[in-house]
Amino acid sequence: MNTHKLRMGMVGGGRDAFIGAVHRTAACMDGRVSFVAGALSSTPEKALASGRDVGLDDRRNYGTWREMLERELALPQDQRIDFVSIVTPNDTHFPVAEAFVQAGFAVVCDKPLVHTSQQAAALIRAVQRAETVFAVTYNYSGYPMVKQARHMVEQGELGDIRKVIVEYNQGWLADKIEETGQKQAQWRTDPARSGIGGAIGDIGSHAEQLVAYVTGLEIDGICADITTFVPGRRLDDDANLLVRYTNGARGLLFASQICIGSENDLRLRAWGTKGGIEWRQEEPNHLVFRPEGRPERIYRRGNDYLCQAAKNNTRLPFGHPEAFIEAFANVYNAAGDAIRAGAGADGGPKHDYPDVYDGARGVHFIERTVASSERDQKWTDARWTMRRGSDA
Ligand SMILES: NC(=O)c1ccc[n+]([C@@H]2O[C@H](COP(=O)([O-])OP(=O)(O)OC[C@H]3O[C@@H](n4cnc5c(N)ncnc54)[C@H](O)[C@@H]3O)[C@@H](O)[C@H]2O)c1
Repeated sequence: MNTHKLRMGMVGGGRDAFIGAVHRTAACMDGRVSFVAGALSSTPEKALASGRDVGLDDRRNYGTWREMLERELALPQDQRIDFVSIVTPNDTHFPVAEAFVQAGFAVVCDKPLVHTSQQAAALIRAVQRAETVFAVTYNYSGYPMVKQARHMVEQGELGDIRKVIVEYNQGWLADKIEETGQKQAQWRTDPARSGIGGAIGDIGSHAEQLVAYVTGLEIDGICADITTFVPGRRLDDDANLLVRYTNGARGLLFASQICIGSENDLRLRAWGTKGGIEWRQEEPNHLVFRPEGRPERIYRRGNDYLCQAAKNNTRLPFGHPEAFIEAFANVYNAAGDAIRAGAGADGGPKHDYPDVYDGARGVHFIERTVASSERDQKWTDARWTMRRGSDA
C-alpha cells in the first residue's frame, strides 16, 4: 500500500475562523498528512498573519488562494500540495474548488458544496475530466457509531425502513446576533454568501446526508415549511419538512437555529419492519437498537462486537470518548487513501467518504426544499438523478 504522507494546503481557516482549525487538526491527527501551505484569510495581511500563527513556512504562506494555486503548481510534483481543503464561507467554494480541480489537485471542501445545482454540475464535470478525488466534509458520517448504524441497515437488522426522523436543533441564532458583528452569523444569514438556505443549508444539509448515508434511502418528494422567526433576517432560521422516500418510507426532517438551549442537537431515528435505531451526535459513542419483541440494546464504540468499519474508524479503547475531530479525521483518512490510490471522481469502489456527488445532492436538496416552501408548502419532486459515473 502506498503510504506517502500527503501534503495539504488550505484556503480559509484564518484567525477567528471556526472550522479551519478542526480540519487541520483532523487531517494531521494520524500522521498521514502534513499541513504545508495556505491562504488562510480573505485579506492578504490577515492571511499571512494567520499562516504565521500556525507555523506555515513563509515561502508557502500565501496572501491569496490564486497566488497559492499558481505558486504550488510551479513547484516540482514531489513538493507541491497533494490536495487543498476549502474552509471558507459558502460563496467561495465554487470558484476555489473549480480552479484547483482544473489544475489537477484533489480537493476536500466543506458543505454546502456550492450555491446552485448548475455550479454543482459544472464541478462534477470538472472533477470527472480531471479524474481527481473530491471529498465533502459531511463529517457526521465519519463517526464509528454512524458507520455501525449503516452496517446494521445494510445487514437487514432493521428490516425495510418505513420511517425516519432526523433533526438538527441549534439555538445560537435565536436573536439577531449578525448585527453584533458575530462573524459566523454574519455570512450565514447573508444570502449572497450563504446561498438560498439559512438553517436548511447550514445544518439541514447535514441531516439530509446523515439519512442518506445510514439508510441508503433516496428522497422522492418534499413538503417543506421554512420560516424566518427573527425579524429582518433574510434567510430561514427554522425548517420543517415532510419527506417521502422512493421505497415508500416516510420521514420528518427538522433543522432549526432558534431552539434556545439546543447546542448541536443532531439526532437520527429510523424504524424498519424489524426494529429501530437512534443516534445522537452529542453522545456519539453509543447507538441504541430496538429490535422487535426484544429488549433495547446499546452498542458502544470501541467494542469487538461492532462492525469492521466502526472498528477501523476508532482510535481509543471503549470508555474514552471520541467525537467531532476524530470523525473529521476519519473522512480525511478515507479521502487520503483514495488520493494515494490515484482514484478519480468516483473515489474507487466502496470508498467511504462523502464525494462531489453527495455534495451536489445536498445542493439539490436545499433548492427543492426552498422551492416547496415558496410554493405554499406543496409537495415538490426532489428526486436526484446525477448518479456516480453518469454525465452531469
Ligand atoms: N462540517 C461542519 O461540521 C462544519 C462546521 C462549521 C462550518 N462548516 C462550513 O465550513 C465553512 C467555513 O465555516 P466557518 O464557520 O469556519 O466560517 P468562518 O467565518 O469562521 O471562517 C471562514 C474563514 O474563511 C476565510 N476566507 C473568506 N474568504 C476567503 C478567501 N477568499 N480566501 C481565503 N480565505 C477566505 C475567512 O477569513 C475565515 O478565516 C462553511 O462552508 C461552513 O458551512 C462546516
